[in-house]
Amino acid sequence: MEVMRASEFWDDQAAEFDEAPDHGLRDAAVRDAWAAFLLPLLPPPPARVADLGCGTGTLTVLMARAGHLVSGLDFAPRMVALAPGRRSQQPTTRPTSWSVMRRPRRGSPGPSTWC
Ligand SMILES: C[S@@+](CC[C@H](N)C(=O)[O-])C[C@H]1O[C@@H](n2cnc3c(N)ncnc32)[C@H](O)[C@@H]1O
Repeated sequence: MEVMRASEFWDDQAAEFDEAPDHGLRDAAVRDAWAAFLLPLLPPPPARVADLGCGTGTLTVLMARAGHLVSGLDFAPRMVALAPGRRSQQPTTRPTSWSVMRRPRRGSPGPSTWC
């Protein structure tokens, strides 16, 4: 799938993405299960973590709430635009940031162009 079309696919999912129980993690039991799976894989907090493909920021905030310093990156602008709202739903004192990755320019060395 071409890069631009893939990001559009995810942008089209953005409005409903968090409705799925395994995405928005609004249910405490599901959220706790994700925390039990993911957090032991990380170094002890506070670690600097890049959440690649952060989407709407669910796991970014989960990791920040555990004391990590997390930067979320994603190529779908509409997904990323929803991420700051997640932080206000689940407050954390840890700084988080979200950025939209740019599409690589024609002739650039590869898909490692970041904003
Ligand atoms: C299944 S969603 C997961 C979102 C989030 N990590 C979560 O667990 O809720 C996949 C996300 O990865 C992003 N993504 C997929 N391939 C990507 C790529 N090559 N570069 C940047 N983002 C990508 C999509 O835009 C989408 O937001």
